[in-house]
Amino acid sequence: MVQEHENIVGFDSAILMHPTVWKASGHVGNFIDVMVEDTITKERFRYDTLSDVQREQNLSPNGNPLSEPKNFNLMFSTSLGSTEESSMKVYLRPETAQGIYVNFKNVQQTSRLKLPFGIAQVGKAFRNELLFKNFIFRTCEFEQMEMQFFVHPQEDTKWFEHWKQLRMQYYKDIGIRESHLRFHEHRPDELAHYAKEACDVFYHFPFGWNEIEGIHNRSNFDLTQHSEFSKKDLSYQPEEGEKFIPCIIETSAGLTRTVLLVLCDAYRVEEIEGSARTVLQLHPRLAPYTIAVLPLVKKDGLAERAKQLFLSLQKEYSCAFDVNTSIGKRYRRQDEIGTPLCLTYDYDSLTDSSVTIRQRDTLKQERVAIHKINQYISDYVKTYGVDNA
Ligand code: GAP
Repeated sequence: MVQEHENIVGFDSAILMHPTVWKASGHVGNFIDVMVEDTITKERFRYDTLSDVQREQNLSPNGNPLSEPKNFNLMFSTSLGSTEESSMKVYLRPETAQGIYVNFKNVQQTSRLKLPFGIAQVGKAFRNELLFKNFIFRTCEFEQMEMQFFVHPQEDTKWFEHWKQLRMQYYKDIGIRESHLRFHEHRPDELAHYAKEACDVFYHFPFGWNEIEGIHNRSNFDLTQHSEFSKKDLSYQPEEGEKFIPCIIETSAGLTRTVLLVLCDAYRVEEIEGSARTVLQLHPRLAPYTIAVLPLVKKDGLAERAKQLFLSLQKEYSCAFDVNTSIGKRYRRQDEIGTPLCLTYDYDSLTDSSVTIRQRDTLKQERVAIHKINQYISDYVKTYGVDNA
Protein backbone atom coordinates (compact mmCIF):
# COMPACT_ATOMS: atom_id res chain seq x y z
CA MET A 1 0.00 0.00 0.00
CA VAL A 2 2.91 2.38 0.62
CA GLN A 3 5.85 1.14 -1.41
CA GLU A 4 3.89 0.37 -4.54
CA HIS A 5 1.95 3.65 -4.61
CA GLU A 6 3.55 7.01 -5.34
CA ASN A 7 0.99 8.97 -3.28
CA ILE A 8 0.69 7.00 -0.03
CA VAL A 9 2.95 7.45 2.99
CA GLY A 10 3.39 5.30 6.09
CA PHE A 11 2.70 6.56 9.59
CA ASP A 12 2.71 5.45 13.24
CA SER A 13 0.38 7.34 15.58
CA ALA A 14 -0.20 7.16 19.34
CA ILE A 15 -2.34 4.52 21.04
CA LEU A 16 -3.37 6.91 23.83
CA MET A 17 -4.65 10.28 22.67
CA HIS A 18 -6.58 13.14 24.25
CA PRO A 19 -10.08 11.89 25.15
CA THR A 20 -11.66 14.65 23.07
CA VAL A 21 -10.40 12.82 19.97
CA TRP A 22 -12.88 10.04 20.75
CA LYS A 23 -15.70 12.48 21.43
CA ALA A 24 -15.07 14.15 18.10
CA SER A 25 -14.88 10.82 16.28
CA GLY A 26 -18.24 9.75 17.71
CA HIS A 27 -16.80 6.72 19.52
CA VAL A 28 -17.73 7.91 23.03
CA GLY A 29 -21.38 8.19 22.02
CA ASN A 30 -21.79 5.64 19.27
CA PHE A 31 -19.26 2.83 19.56
CA ILE A 32 -21.55 0.55 21.47
CA ASP A 33 -22.97 -2.97 21.38
CA VAL A 34 -26.46 -3.50 22.78
CA MET A 35 -26.28 -6.64 24.91
CA VAL A 36 -28.83 -8.85 26.67
CA GLU A 37 -28.30 -11.63 29.18
CA ASP A 38 -30.04 -15.00 29.52
CA THR A 39 -31.37 -14.61 33.09
CA ILE A 40 -30.95 -18.36 33.80
CA THR A 41 -27.65 -19.34 32.14
CA LYS A 42 -26.10 -15.81 32.35
CA GLU A 43 -24.99 -16.20 28.73
CA ARG A 44 -24.70 -12.88 26.87
CA PHE A 45 -25.98 -12.12 23.40
CA ARG A 46 -25.68 -9.14 21.10
CA TYR A 47 -29.23 -7.82 20.74
CA ASP A 48 -28.90 -7.39 16.95
CA THR A 49 -28.02 -11.07 16.51
CA LEU A 50 -31.36 -12.26 17.97
CA SER A 51 -34.22 -13.19 15.64
CA ASP A 52 -37.35 -10.99 15.41
CA VAL A 53 -39.34 -13.65 17.30
CA GLN A 54 -36.73 -13.85 20.10
CA ARG A 55 -36.80 -10.07 20.47
CA GLU A 56 -40.61 -9.89 20.46
CA GLN A 57 -40.95 -12.66 23.05
CA ASN A 58 -37.89 -11.48 24.99
CA LEU A 59 -36.44 -14.99 24.97
CA SER A 60 -32.83 -16.08 24.57
CA PRO A 61 -31.79 -18.71 21.97
CA ASN A 62 -31.96 -21.16 24.93
CA GLY A 63 -35.64 -20.28 25.42
CA ASN A 64 -35.08 -18.47 28.76
CA PRO A 65 -36.19 -14.93 29.68
CA LEU A 66 -33.77 -12.14 28.74
CA SER A 67 -32.57 -9.16 30.79
CA GLU A 68 -33.25 -5.56 29.69
CA PRO A 69 -30.98 -4.53 26.75
CA LYS A 70 -27.92 -2.59 27.95
CA ASN A 71 -25.45 -0.42 26.04
CA PHE A 72 -21.77 -1.42 26.29
CA ASN A 73 -19.10 0.93 24.97
CA LEU A 74 -16.41 -1.11 23.27
CA MET A 75 -13.52 1.19 24.18
CA PHE A 76 -11.08 0.24 26.93
CA SER A 77 -10.21 3.10 29.24
CA THR A 78 -7.38 3.85 31.61
CA SER A 79 -6.35 6.94 33.57
CA LEU A 80 -3.61 9.44 32.87
CA GLY A 81 -2.17 11.42 35.76
CA SER A 82 -0.29 10.97 39.03
CA THR A 83 -3.14 11.32 41.53
CA GLU A 84 -6.68 10.02 41.51
CA GLU A 85 -8.19 13.53 41.70
CA SER A 86 -6.10 14.99 38.89
CA SER A 87 -6.19 12.00 36.58
CA MET A 88 -8.01 12.03 33.27
CA LYS A 89 -9.88 9.14 31.69
CA VAL A 90 -8.19 8.19 28.43
CA TYR A 91 -9.01 5.47 25.91
CA LEU A 92 -6.94 2.83 24.16
CA ARG A 93 -7.59 3.38 20.47
CA PRO A 94 -10.28 1.09 19.04
CA GLU A 95 -9.03 1.81 15.48
CA THR A 96 -5.83 3.28 14.09
CA ALA A 97 -7.76 5.68 11.82
CA GLN A 98 -8.27 8.58 14.24
CA GLY A 99 -4.52 8.96 14.87
CA ILE A 100 -4.16 9.64 11.16
CA TYR A 101 -7.01 12.16 11.02
CA VAL A 102 -5.70 14.29 13.88
CA ASN A 103 -2.26 14.29 12.23
CA PHE A 104 -3.60 14.86 8.73
CA LYS A 105 -2.26 18.39 8.38
CA ASN A 106 1.17 17.59 9.90
CA VAL A 107 1.71 14.72 7.49
CA GLN A 108 0.31 16.57 4.46
CA GLN A 109 2.51 19.61 5.03
CA THR A 110 5.74 17.88 6.06
CA SER A 111 5.52 15.35 3.22
CA ARG A 112 4.28 18.05 0.78
CA LEU A 113 1.41 15.86 -0.36
CA LYS A 114 -1.17 16.93 -2.91
CA LEU A 115 -4.67 15.54 -3.16
CA PRO A 116 -5.49 12.75 -3.78
CA PHE A 117 -3.08 11.07 -1.34
CA GLY A 118 -3.11 8.41 1.37
CA ILE A 119 -1.69 7.83 4.84
CA ALA A 120 -1.38 4.21 5.94
CA GLN A 121 -0.53 2.54 9.20
CA VAL A 122 -0.29 -0.88 10.77
CA GLY A 123 -0.87 -1.05 14.48
CA LYS A 124 -2.62 -2.36 17.53
CA ALA A 125 -6.29 -1.61 18.21
CA PHE A 126 -8.21 -2.57 21.36
CA ARG A 127 -11.88 -3.37 21.81
CA ASN A 128 -13.70 -4.62 24.86
CA GLU A 129 -15.35 -7.40 22.88
CA LEU A 130 -17.88 -9.31 24.94
CA LEU A 131 -18.24 -12.37 22.75
CA PHE A 132 -15.42 -14.59 21.57
CA LYS A 133 -15.33 -17.60 19.38
CA ASN A 134 -13.48 -18.91 16.37
CA PHE A 135 -9.90 -18.60 17.62
CA ILE A 136 -8.33 -15.24 16.63
CA PHE A 137 -11.25 -14.08 14.49
CA ARG A 138 -12.33 -11.67 17.23
CA THR A 139 -9.97 -10.67 20.04
CA CYS A 140 -9.69 -7.75 22.49
CA GLU A 141 -6.27 -6.76 21.20
CA PHE A 142 -5.64 -7.04 17.49
CA GLU A 143 -3.63 -5.56 14.69
CA GLN A 144 -5.17 -3.40 11.97
CA MET A 145 -3.78 -2.34 8.59
CA GLU A 146 -5.58 0.86 7.65
CA MET A 147 -5.16 3.37 4.86
CA GLN A 148 -6.93 6.73 4.74
CA PHE A 149 -7.16 8.24 1.26
CA PHE A 150 -7.94 11.97 1.11
CA VAL A 151 -9.87 13.13 -1.95
CA HIS A 152 -11.80 16.06 -3.38
CA PRO A 153 -15.48 15.86 -2.25
CA GLN A 154 -16.64 15.52 -5.86
CA GLU A 155 -14.48 12.45 -6.35
CA ASP A 156 -15.37 10.36 -3.29
CA THR A 157 -17.56 7.80 -5.06
CA LYS A 158 -15.02 7.32 -7.86
CA TRP A 159 -12.20 6.61 -5.36
CA PHE A 160 -14.43 4.39 -3.22
CA GLU A 161 -14.98 2.13 -6.27
CA HIS A 162 -11.28 2.28 -7.13
CA TRP A 163 -10.17 1.10 -3.67
CA LYS A 164 -12.80 -1.63 -3.51
CA GLN A 165 -11.32 -3.24 -6.61
CA LEU A 166 -7.71 -2.83 -5.47
CA ARG A 167 -8.37 -4.29 -2.04
CA MET A 168 -10.13 -7.34 -3.48
CA GLN A 169 -7.15 -7.81 -5.80
CA TYR A 170 -4.80 -7.71 -2.78
CA TYR A 171 -6.30 -10.91 -1.35
CA LYS A 172 -6.07 -12.64 -4.73
CA ASP A 173 -2.43 -11.52 -5.02
CA ILE A 174 -1.50 -13.14 -1.70
CA GLY A 175 -2.91 -16.39 -3.07
CA ILE A 176 -6.40 -16.53 -1.51
CA ARG A 177 -8.88 -18.63 -3.50
CA GLU A 178 -11.20 -16.41 -5.53
CA SER A 179 -14.17 -18.72 -4.87
CA HIS A 180 -13.82 -17.92 -1.14
CA LEU A 181 -13.93 -14.13 -1.52
CA ARG A 182 -16.85 -11.78 -2.09
CA PHE A 183 -18.07 -8.26 -1.40
CA HIS A 184 -20.79 -7.43 1.06
CA GLU A 185 -22.36 -4.01 0.36
CA HIS A 186 -23.79 -2.33 3.47
CA ARG A 187 -27.49 -1.53 3.53
CA PRO A 188 -28.28 1.96 4.91
CA ASP A 189 -29.28 0.44 8.29
CA GLU A 190 -25.91 -1.37 8.56
CA LEU A 191 -23.73 1.71 8.03
CA ALA A 192 -21.39 2.78 10.85
CA HIS A 193 -21.99 6.25 12.28
CA TYR A 194 -19.23 7.78 10.11
CA ALA A 195 -19.98 6.08 6.80
CA LYS A 196 -21.73 7.46 3.71
CA GLU A 197 -21.25 4.18 1.84
CA ALA A 198 -19.47 1.00 2.85
CA CYS A 199 -18.54 -2.38 1.52
CA ASP A 200 -16.84 -5.29 3.27
CA VAL A 201 -14.59 -7.95 1.81
CA PHE A 202 -15.95 -11.27 3.04
CA TYR A 203 -14.09 -14.60 3.23
CA HIS A 204 -15.65 -18.03 3.45
CA PHE A 205 -14.17 -19.28 6.75
CA PRO A 206 -14.84 -22.88 7.88
CA PHE A 207 -17.47 -21.28 10.19
CA GLY A 208 -19.16 -19.30 7.40
CA TRP A 209 -18.87 -16.07 5.38
CA ASN A 210 -17.40 -13.27 7.50
CA GLU A 211 -15.83 -9.82 7.21
CA ILE A 212 -12.09 -9.43 6.81
CA GLU A 213 -11.92 -5.81 5.69
CA GLY A 214 -14.15 -2.75 5.53
CA ILE A 215 -13.89 -0.17 2.76
CA HIS A 216 -15.66 3.02 3.79
CA ASN A 217 -16.56 6.30 2.19
CA ARG A 218 -16.37 8.43 5.37
CA SER A 219 -17.20 11.68 3.48
CA ASN A 220 -15.76 14.75 5.26
CA PHE A 221 -17.27 13.60 8.59
CA ASP A 222 -14.00 12.97 10.44
CA LEU A 223 -12.00 16.04 9.46
CA THR A 224 -15.06 18.27 10.03
CA GLN A 225 -15.55 16.80 13.51
CA HIS A 226 -11.88 17.12 14.47
CA SER A 227 -11.76 20.71 13.15
CA GLU A 228 -14.76 21.61 15.30
CA PHE A 229 -13.59 19.90 18.49
CA SER A 230 -9.93 21.02 18.26
CA LYS A 231 -10.67 24.47 16.81
CA LYS A 232 -7.93 23.77 14.25
CA ASP A 233 -8.45 24.33 10.57
CA LEU A 234 -8.10 20.94 8.87
CA SER A 235 -9.09 22.12 5.42
CA TYR A 236 -6.94 21.70 2.33
CA GLN A 237 -5.84 24.55 0.12
CA PRO A 238 -5.42 23.47 -3.52
CA GLU A 239 -3.04 25.37 -5.82
CA GLU A 240 -6.05 26.97 -7.47
CA GLY A 241 -9.49 27.68 -6.09
CA GLU A 242 -11.15 27.70 -2.66
CA LYS A 243 -10.00 25.58 0.26
CA PHE A 244 -12.19 22.68 1.34
CA ILE A 245 -12.37 19.80 3.82
CA PRO A 246 -11.29 16.61 2.02
CA CYS A 247 -13.38 13.45 1.99
CA ILE A 248 -11.84 10.20 3.18
CA ILE A 249 -11.95 6.76 1.62
CA GLU A 250 -10.77 4.24 4.16
CA THR A 251 -9.51 0.70 3.64
CA SER A 252 -9.53 -1.03 7.02
CA ALA A 253 -8.19 -4.57 7.15
CA GLY A 254 -7.64 -6.77 10.18
CA LEU A 255 -4.10 -8.14 10.15
CA THR A 256 -4.82 -10.68 12.89
CA ARG A 257 -7.94 -11.81 11.05
CA THR A 258 -5.99 -12.01 7.78
CA VAL A 259 -3.54 -14.39 9.46
CA LEU A 260 -6.49 -16.66 10.31
CA LEU A 261 -7.84 -16.47 6.77
CA VAL A 262 -4.44 -17.22 5.23
CA LEU A 263 -4.07 -20.30 7.45
CA CYS A 264 -7.62 -21.50 6.68
CA ASP A 265 -7.13 -20.99 2.96
CA ALA A 266 -3.72 -22.66 2.76
CA TYR A 267 -4.42 -25.75 4.87
CA ARG A 268 -4.82 -29.00 2.91
CA VAL A 269 -4.66 -32.70 3.66
CA GLU A 270 -3.87 -34.60 0.47
CA GLU A 271 -3.43 -38.24 -0.33
CA ILE A 272 -0.09 -39.08 -1.89
CA GLU A 273 0.76 -42.67 -2.79
CA GLY A 274 -1.69 -43.98 -0.21
CA SER A 275 -0.57 -41.79 2.67
CA ALA A 276 -1.90 -38.47 3.94
CA ARG A 277 0.19 -35.33 3.41
CA THR A 278 -0.62 -32.21 5.42
CA VAL A 279 0.45 -29.13 3.56
CA LEU A 280 0.16 -25.41 4.13
CA GLN A 281 0.02 -24.05 0.60
CA LEU A 282 1.14 -20.54 1.50
CA HIS A 283 2.14 -18.04 -1.14
CA PRO A 284 5.99 -17.93 -1.01
CA ARG A 285 5.83 -14.24 -0.05
CA LEU A 286 3.90 -15.18 3.10
CA ALA A 287 5.62 -18.43 4.04
CA PRO A 288 7.68 -18.17 7.27
CA TYR A 289 10.58 -19.88 5.47
CA THR A 290 11.17 -19.51 1.74
CA ILE A 291 13.56 -22.45 1.60
CA ALA A 292 14.75 -25.24 3.87
CA VAL A 293 18.33 -26.49 3.56
CA LEU A 294 18.57 -30.21 4.28
CA PRO A 295 21.75 -32.28 4.19
CA LEU A 296 20.87 -35.78 2.96
CA VAL A 297 22.70 -37.24 5.98
CA LYS A 298 24.61 -35.77 8.91
CA LYS A 299 27.86 -37.59 8.29
CA ASP A 300 30.68 -37.44 5.72
CA GLY A 301 30.85 -33.64 5.83
CA LEU A 302 27.42 -33.13 4.22
CA ALA A 303 25.95 -31.34 7.25
CA GLU A 304 28.90 -28.91 7.42
CA ARG A 305 28.74 -28.11 3.70
CA ALA A 306 24.97 -27.69 3.82
CA LYS A 307 25.33 -25.38 6.84
CA GLN A 308 27.68 -23.13 4.84
CA LEU A 309 25.08 -22.94 2.09
CA PHE A 310 22.36 -22.17 4.63
CA LEU A 311 24.42 -19.34 6.16
CA SER A 312 24.98 -17.70 2.79
CA LEU A 313 21.34 -18.07 1.63
CA GLN A 314 20.09 -16.74 4.95
CA LYS A 315 21.47 -13.31 4.07
CA GLU A 316 18.83 -12.99 1.35
CA TYR A 317 16.03 -15.37 2.23
CA SER A 318 14.32 -16.65 5.30
CA CYS A 319 15.79 -20.18 5.58
CA ALA A 320 15.31 -23.22 7.76
CA PHE A 321 18.03 -25.80 8.45
CA ASP A 322 17.15 -29.32 9.52
CA VAL A 323 19.38 -32.37 9.88
CA ASN A 324 17.31 -34.71 12.04
CA THR A 325 15.40 -37.83 10.86
CA SER A 326 14.94 -39.19 7.35
CA ILE A 327 14.82 -36.84 4.38
CA GLY A 328 11.20 -37.87 3.63
CA LYS A 329 10.07 -36.90 7.14
CA ARG A 330 11.93 -33.60 6.91
CA TYR A 331 10.17 -32.79 3.60
CA ARG A 332 6.78 -33.44 5.24
CA ARG A 333 7.71 -31.27 8.21
CA GLN A 334 8.44 -28.37 5.88
CA ASP A 335 5.20 -29.04 3.92
CA GLU A 336 3.25 -28.69 7.16
CA ILE A 337 4.66 -25.24 7.93
CA GLY A 338 4.30 -24.09 4.32
CA THR A 339 7.95 -23.90 3.18
CA PRO A 340 7.63 -23.71 -0.63
CA LEU A 341 11.13 -25.05 -1.47
CA CYS A 342 13.45 -27.65 0.04
CA LEU A 343 17.08 -27.90 -0.96
CA THR A 344 18.92 -31.19 -0.43
CA TYR A 345 22.69 -31.35 -0.29
CA ASP A 346 23.73 -34.92 -1.13
CA TYR A 347 26.84 -36.96 -1.98
CA ASP A 348 26.76 -35.83 -5.63
CA SER A 349 26.82 -32.21 -4.44
CA LEU A 350 30.39 -32.79 -3.20
CA THR A 351 31.56 -33.36 -6.77
CA ASP A 352 29.05 -31.64 -9.10
CA SER A 353 28.46 -28.44 -7.02
CA SER A 354 24.71 -28.83 -7.49
CA VAL A 355 21.81 -29.53 -5.17
CA THR A 356 18.29 -30.92 -5.53
CA ILE A 357 15.46 -28.45 -5.10
CA ARG A 358 12.01 -29.88 -4.36
CA GLN A 359 8.84 -27.85 -4.82
CA ARG A 360 6.21 -28.19 -2.09
CA ASP A 361 3.19 -27.85 -4.40
CA THR A 362 4.14 -30.11 -7.32
CA LEU A 363 6.70 -32.34 -5.55
CA LYS A 364 8.84 -31.76 -8.63
CA GLN A 365 12.58 -32.14 -8.00
CA GLU A 366 15.24 -30.35 -10.04
CA ARG A 367 19.01 -30.36 -10.02
CA VAL A 368 20.30 -26.79 -9.68
CA ALA A 369 23.90 -25.54 -9.74
CA ILE A 370 24.86 -23.94 -6.42
CA HIS A 371 25.75 -20.61 -8.06
CA LYS A 372 22.25 -20.49 -9.61
CA ILE A 373 20.24 -21.14 -6.41
CA ASN A 374 19.55 -17.46 -5.65
CA GLN A 375 18.25 -16.88 -9.16
CA TYR A 376 16.12 -20.02 -8.95
CA ILE A 377 14.48 -18.90 -5.68
CA SER A 378 13.91 -15.34 -6.86
CA ASP A 379 12.31 -16.54 -10.15
CA TYR A 380 10.16 -19.04 -8.29
CA VAL A 381 8.79 -16.43 -5.87
CA LYS A 382 8.21 -13.84 -8.61
CA THR A 383 6.36 -16.17 -10.95
CA TYR A 384 4.44 -18.10 -8.28
CA GLY A 385 0.78 -18.33 -9.15
CA VAL A 386 1.52 -17.50 -12.78
CA ASP A 387 3.36 -20.66 -13.90
CA ASN A 388 3.49 -23.04 -10.99
CA ALA A 389 0.36 -22.67 -8.83
N1 GAP B 1 -11.49 2.22 11.04
C1 GAP B 1 -12.63 1.44 10.66
C2 GAP B 1 -12.73 0.20 11.41
O1 GAP B 1 -12.05 -0.01 12.40
P1 GAP B 1 -14.07 -2.06 11.54
O2 GAP B 1 -14.96 -2.69 10.51
O3 GAP B 1 -14.60 -1.84 12.90
O4 GAP B 1 -13.61 -0.68 10.87
C3 GAP B 1 -11.91 -3.13 10.51
O5 GAP B 1 -12.73 -2.90 11.66
C4 GAP B 1 -11.34 -4.52 10.53
O6 GAP B 1 -10.64 -4.74 11.76
C5 GAP B 1 -12.38 -5.64 10.47
O7 GAP B 1 -12.74 -5.91 9.13
C6 GAP B 1 -11.62 -6.81 11.08
O8 GAP B 1 -10.77 -7.42 10.12
C7 GAP B 1 -10.74 -6.12 12.11
N2 GAP B 1 -11.34 -6.24 13.46
C8 GAP B 1 -12.30 -5.48 14.01
N3 GAP B 1 -12.57 -5.89 15.27
C9 GAP B 1 -11.77 -6.94 15.52
C10 GAP B 1 -11.55 -7.79 16.65
N4 GAP B 1 -12.21 -7.61 17.80
N5 GAP B 1 -10.64 -8.80 16.55
C11 GAP B 1 -9.94 -8.97 15.41
N6 GAP B 1 -10.08 -8.19 14.32
C12 GAP B 1 -10.98 -7.18 14.36
